[in-house]
Amino acid sequence: MGSTAAASASALPASAGSGENLVLILDYGSQYTHLITRRVRQLGVLSLCVSGTAPLAALEGLRPRAVVLSGGPHSVHAEGAPTFPEGFLEFADGAGAHVLGVCYGMQLLVQSLGGAVEPGERQEYGKMEVEVTAPSSALYGEAETVKRQTVWMSHGDEVVRLPEGFEVVARSVQGAVAAIENREKRFYGLQYHPEVTHSPQGMETLLRFLFDVCGIIADWKMQDVLDEEIKTIQSMVGPDEHVICALSGGVDSTVAATLVHKAIGDRLHCVFVDNGLLRYKERERVMSTFESDLHLPVTCVDASEQFLSKLKGVEDPEQKRKIIGREFIAVFDDFAHKMEKKIGKRPEYLVQGTLYPDVIESCPPPGSGRTHSHTIKSHHNVGGLPKDMKLKLIEPLKLLFKDEVRKLGSILNVPDSFLKRHPFPGPGLAVRVLGDVTQGNALDTLRQVDEIFVQAIKDAGLYDKIWQAFAVFLPVQTVGVQGDQRTHSNAVVLRAITSEDGMTADWYYFGHEFLVDVVNKICNNVRGINRVCQDITSKPPATVEWE
Ligand code: XMP
Repeated sequence: MGSTAAASASALPASAGSGENLVLILDYGSQYTHLITRRVRQLGVLSLCVSGTAPLAALEGLRPRAVVLSGGPHSVHAEGAPTFPEGFLEFADGAGAHVLGVCYGMQLLVQSLGGAVEPGERQEYGKMEVEVTAPSSALYGEAETVKRQTVWMSHGDEVVRLPEGFEVVARSVQGAVAAIENREKRFYGLQYHPEVTHSPQGMETLLRFLFDVCGIIADWKMQDVLDEEIKTIQSMVGPDEHVICALSGGVDSTVAATLVHKAIGDRLHCVFVDNGLLRYKERERVMSTFESDLHLPVTCVDASEQFLSKLKGVEDPEQKRKIIGREFIAVFDDFAHKMEKKIGKRPEYLVQGTLYPDVIESCPPPGSGRTHSHTIKSHHNVGGLPKDMKLKLIEPLKLLFKDEVRKLGSILNVPDSFLKRHPFPGPGLAVRVLGDVTQGNALDTLRQVDEIFVQAIKDAGLYDKIWQAFAVFLPVQTVGVQGDQRTHSNAVVLRAITSEDGMTADWYYFGHEFLVDVVNKICNNVRGINRVCQDITSKPPATVEWE
């Protein structure tokens, strides 16, 4: 609760018990780090992710049963290559933790313990066969079925000499070290990525590591998370204190509000802000569902003029986000003030649906010039909040990933129509109309295109297969020919992606017929559009949104 924290004893939810089954992931910048965190949670074990170079103080009070050192894009020999904090090995030993290095994490472990890592003669990227060479090993056991398996490799360097006390337990068919163990000291290493689906038996290895090697008990359950969050909110918010919550109509704020409502009842006051950047008929649709399905008391504030006048002429995406963040807070403050008049007491707290990916400090790639505290976009909800905000934050979802929030929502009986909605960014269409959002009729035009596209996806039964689908308005005019007339109109882009948590994404492949139909509908029904493109870039290298 309260301010952001990647992981520290104070951020440890009570649902994790005393933490004896906690898995800590130290992040060295791999695109798969969050996947490891999620995979461990899928096995019913709480895992928290911290920057791999965070000071030891950030881990203080935690007693993880296992620590996973993630992969990363670096070479251990590169200048400034990230390494674990001073005193980490003693910390892990003191906690009785088992340490598993994955890819870069394994090389880091080997180098730090006196072994040698060198640029490999055989660089191994992609699918690779490995053979378990030890007759019996902690990571693989003795089963014949695991003796030879396909795994996902991604390394240029390789381990050429082991530190004392280690043994090689698996090698790639090219001869590179693929897995190592020092059972006595509780150190393990995998050169490949067990967390990705391209390593089909990887989950089995993780499972063995957690339950057989570390002796962890799968005791992390969504019902406990819910019960604990409710208790925490009840003890945080005094018996006559009031809380406000901004509902966006999306999964996160809806689940957060429902949870807080369960904890403190009608001392929660929800507000839905029409900032002029909403989708087609969003306000009417969302307000009616809040009333009929959720029975949450919600006040609707029309602040579209206020937002749009502040955004006039602003082109820089970050600037737009900051302005929107500021205006939201101004509206909330005003709402809190009105509530004070109505109930005779000023609300002290603001509920936010911040999720775990928003608070994790990731390790940036080398040469990026970024440090851990930099974000690619100031994009999470908390990013836009001013420092002098008077309201205190309640962030009941801040340790959860999106799919976990959906599970929590279903325990809370939040209807599927909310839980299955595609995510929509806080700054709304402002990050989908590139440049100045107040130019011409851009927002209305985009709303129409977006509605046609998303409705077509629903009609085709594809909505639940796609993680997010939307249109983007380009402030460029292209030449067209419509009804014998030469036109000079705008272009729009359609973007549809599949993803597990928005951290990485693939673009969705629509069939030819679907696209032909959608493009026809858009060009025939939306004035001012004569060209439709589809974005076929994955994340990375692109982000999901265009700004
Ligand atoms: P990106 O564009 O960073 O998006 O790949 C990842 C996910 O985050 C959403 N997104 C935002 N959400 N405020 C939000 O609340 C923002 O400023 C913002 N920018 C991107 C995006 O829609 C996707 O789901």
